Amino acid sequence: MEKNIFDLSGRVALITAGGHGLGRAYCEAMAEFGADVACADINKKFADETVDDIKRFGHRAIAIEADVSKPDQIERMVNQTVSGFGTIDILFNNAGWCHSIEKRLHELVIEDWDACININLKGTFLCMRAVLPVMLKQKRGSIISTASVAGLMAGCWEWSAPNIYAYGASKAGIIALTRHAAVAYAKDGIRINAIAPGTHDTKSTFIPREVAEPYLQRFAKFTPMGRVAEPNEIKGLAIWLASDASSYVTGQTFVQDGGFIA
Ligand SMILES: NC(=O)c1ccc[n+]([C@@H]2O[C@H](COP(=O)([O-])OP(=O)(O)OC[C@H]3O[C@@H](n4cnc5c(N)ncnc54)[C@H](O)[C@@H]3O)[C@@H](O)[C@H]2O)c1
Repeated sequence: MEKNIFDLSGRVALITAGGHGLGRAYCEAMAEFGADVACADINKKFADETVDDIKRFGHRAIAIEADVSKPDQIERMVNQTVSGFGTIDILFNNAGWCHSIEKRLHELVIEDWDACININLKGTFLCMRAVLPVMLKQKRGSIISTASVAGLMAGCWEWSAPNIYAYGASKAGIIALTRHAAVAYAKDGIRINAIAPGTHDTKSTFIPREVAEPYLQRFAKFTPMGRVAEPNEIKGLAIWLASDASSYVTGQTFVQDGGFIA
């Protein structure tokens, strides 16, 4: 029987910030399509909850505590995954954070700027740097990073999210890093792509609900589809990019935003 091109059986997926929101959806999608999953998160309780949930799919899953902005923790996360499952075939660089959107650029403190760049952009670099040697050894791998439409466009109070300078810059950086790395590793059998989500209602851990609520309503109003997305709607793109179904696709960023920036 021919293999289903979306089948991930026998593959190992490592997902950062897999404990909540889009990361949890990525973990579920990988497990549902047959992969063993290493779910890493700065919050171990969140990672444990994801792992308990995805065990219903019948594959191996482990929870790892790791802050993507800390090189030693990234090395430990990769070693733990490889010693548990033997290799890494799929890496989701998903961890992201944003500073308060109340401050304009001239009011932004350096600590906010640094934290955002360190988690979002440096974290993506650190995870790629740690995982690429594993993928090079087996001459196979798929790396998928979570960028954002904020890396492709700016918004204003009336219809979008303002004051996300470091966040937008970090996500644009992820898109550029994706392109450059994809070209460099294309002949090594390693594909590198990014997903740029529009608004997905993840009940985000870093934006207070009362702050998020008016934005969600505004985004829904200005999105051609007339709504924001559920986190689970990210699964299709994730499975396609992780699997052999996208075997000739690399260096690209895929927007999923209900037509917001069309
Ligand atoms: N939700 C959206 O609408 C949306 C849109 C565009 C891009 N994104 C991006 O998607 C990714 C996930 O966002 P979400 O909405 O699912 O977030 P979320 O708030 O639902 O979950 C974030 C998770 O990241 C973990 N985390 C935070 N800092 C970390 C760190 N330093 N190291 C490891 N884990 C860390 C948290 O513990 C939590 O489990 C982020 O990169 C975000 O920028 C989200």
